Amino acid sequence: MDKFLSLCSLSTSVGVMDRQYFLSWKVALLLLHLMPCGLQCMSVHILNKEPVHVMPDSSLVLKARIEQGPLEEVSVVTWEREPETGLSTERVTLATCTGRSQKCAGTSPNVHVNVAQQETALQINGYSGVDGAVYTVTVTDHKGAKTSAQCIVRTYEAVHHVSVSINVSHSMLVCGEAWGTDPHFSWLHERVAITETVGRVSKDGTTLFVTKTPICGHFTCMVSNKLGHSSATYTAAPCETEGRGTTAAVVCSLLLLLFGGVLVYLLWRRHRYSNKGERLHEHLDDTI
Ligand SMILES: *[C@@H]1O[C@H](CO)[C@@H](O)[C@H](O)[C@H]1NC(C)=O
Repeated sequence: MDKFLSLCSLSTSVGVMDRQYFLSWKVALLLLHLMPCGLQCMSVHILNKEPVHVMPDSSLVLKARIEQGPLEEVSVVTWEREPETGLSTERVTLATCTGRSQKCAGTSPNVHVNVAQQETALQINGYSGVDGAVYTVTVTDHKGAKTSAQCIVRTYEAVHHVSVSINVSHSMLVCGEAWGTDPHFSWLHERVAITETVGRVSKDGTTLFVTKTPICGHFTCMVSNKLGHSSATYTAAPCETEGRGTTAAVVCSLLLLLFGGVLVYLLWRRHRYSNKGERLHEHLDDTI
């Protein structure tokens, strides 16, 4: 009887445990369904820093990381492109990878795509996109659920149309450039790098706070990037020292002219007198 009772209680406790176990599973499943990214959520991220700039005629390489749950499988990877701006927003497929071995097929000979481990890479050789484009990578799992990531790609452009304007009330010069990728600004005063006596350049380099008063001389803003540089100059009134310099030069040349004139006069006089002496001699000879 004792034995029977203990057995009985054991079976009931097992029953309770089964129930708890079952409930906890149910709760876990419920949570999985509620959570957008539990075990069953694939995600993809592009690893390049946005926006990606490509030199004309060079290669564009985009890399993406695929995160997947233990129960998931990648079934299709697609790379697409669409214009960044403009009226046409047509998406063009660049490559698709399918099957267990993720065989990839590009839609043009210069497009190469691969999928390996948890990464996928797109490479376009001889890049010639004139305008910006948005690239999309889409990963489809075995159930057909899709997840995607996007990245803006623009062509690396040379610096053009640099201009310098003055803000008189705040004693500052502002350097602007109409376009150019990754512009780097530097300033010159009378073709020499800016010193503390002339002014201070803002952190981004676009503004020069002029400390020199009054603002005078030539201020040049040079904007450069990997493809070259372009510059613009703001010309203020000539600096005083420069004025003094030119005055000194004028005085100097005047003095030189005067000195030269006197020298020429003296030489001419000497020449004339010596000629006169000779003529006197000739005259004397004639009379003798
Ligand atoms: C000069 O710069 C100041 C400060 O940035 C700005 O508030 C002001 O509008 C500028 N003046 C002109 C004429 O651009």
